[in-house]
Amino acid sequence: MIRELSLTVCVDLWKKFSRHSSLITHTMWNYRQPTDIRFGVGTRKTLPDVIAKFGGRPVLVTDAGLASMAMTSEVLDLLGPSAILFAEVEPNPTVGTVDKLAETIRGHLGDVVVALGGGSSLDCAKAACSVAIQGGPARKYHSEGVALDSRHLPLIAVPTTAGTGSEVTPIAVLDDPEKGIKAPIAHDNFYPKLAIVDPELTLTVPRHITAITGLDALSHGIEGYWSKNHQPICDLMALESVRLVFRHLSAALANGSDIKARTGMSLAALLGGLGFQLPKNAAVHACSFPLSNKYHMPHGSACAMTLDHFVRFNSESMGERGIALARAAGFAGMNDLADGIAELKAEAGLPTTLREVGVCDNNIDELVKNSFHPIMGNNPREVTPDALRALYLEML
Ligand SMILES: [Fe+2]
Repeated sequence: MIRELSLTVCVDLWKKFSRHSSLITHTMWNYRQPTDIRFGVGTRKTLPDVIAKFGGRPVLVTDAGLASMAMTSEVLDLLGPSAILFAEVEPNPTVGTVDKLAETIRGHLGDVVVALGGGSSLDCAKAACSVAIQGGPARKYHSEGVALDSRHLPLIAVPTTAGTGSEVTPIAVLDDPEKGIKAPIAHDNFYPKLAIVDPELTLTVPRHITAITGLDALSHGIEGYWSKNHQPICDLMALESVRLVFRHLSAALANGSDIKARTGMSLAALLGGLGFQLPKNAAVHACSFPLSNKYHMPHGSACAMTLDHFVRFNSESMGERGIALARAAGFAGMNDLADGIAELKAEAGLPTTLREVGVCDNNIDELVKNSFHPIMGNNPREVTPDALRALYLEML
């Protein structure tokens, strides 16, 4: 009987695999995810046990807006009397703020860092956990090419938005305004030791931030899936992330207190992060950098600007994988998916044309030139300067 059952299961699995095997284009791949993940409503309340494992001189990192909210006092209480608060992280964290935080950690003899917030607080804390031990300034590891070694403090990431997936990635986006460089840096040290994803913390996120971060999560799912470096485990998480965004973002926009929708979006963001952290992003994120740097678009909004256009652009090179992506979102094909994203952007109140954010015809050449970040090479269809110019003109 057991043998029969096993055989049936094996045959089912084989059938499933053969149905999807044509979608697997890489036969050799590696999967790694060193961050422990604790997910669910109320998981923040386990912080005292978590902190006890690391020694007990925590530094809580957040931004000024969150610092005045009840959740920050609650988390500070959970961390105990030896915890201190650093609430100076700005929306686009600078290398200078990393240095300031690293100095604060050293001054406190901190042995564990807890980052509470969106991607900015998490990214700033990731870098500071290494700089506090290895010495600064942070700039030398960012724009001056000095390699970090493996020494760093443990980081507990507690996201309060559903978007960046920063809680499970080794990436920190930092700004060096003096050098005019805003760029991501990646290092194994930056993987948080633990991600505590408590959807209750996202209940107070304003509607426009829900929109921006939700579209960022969708971009991660789509780009992780279509990146040239895609692989089967990340594919599954990316597709599920895309499905969850289409299932829950509208409800979260309509009613921010909808805990079911917020939980769905927290999971979408987490899976989006897991889905792209190894394959890396592609053209949409490459184009987001100049749109954020020069035209000050928030990151998720900058991704949303080009996302539906690249879905159409990439459709012809994706074949069955494109159909699988569209179906995950509830659509028949890539063009329908592009229409669905355009509708979602409009519903979310995000800009849908470049003119709305201050781009004119005579800015297009510069925008094209500044869009060729190395991750552009991950796009499934080659993006030439001429093709990108045509896409940007469509978006004007
Ligand atoms: Fe992103």
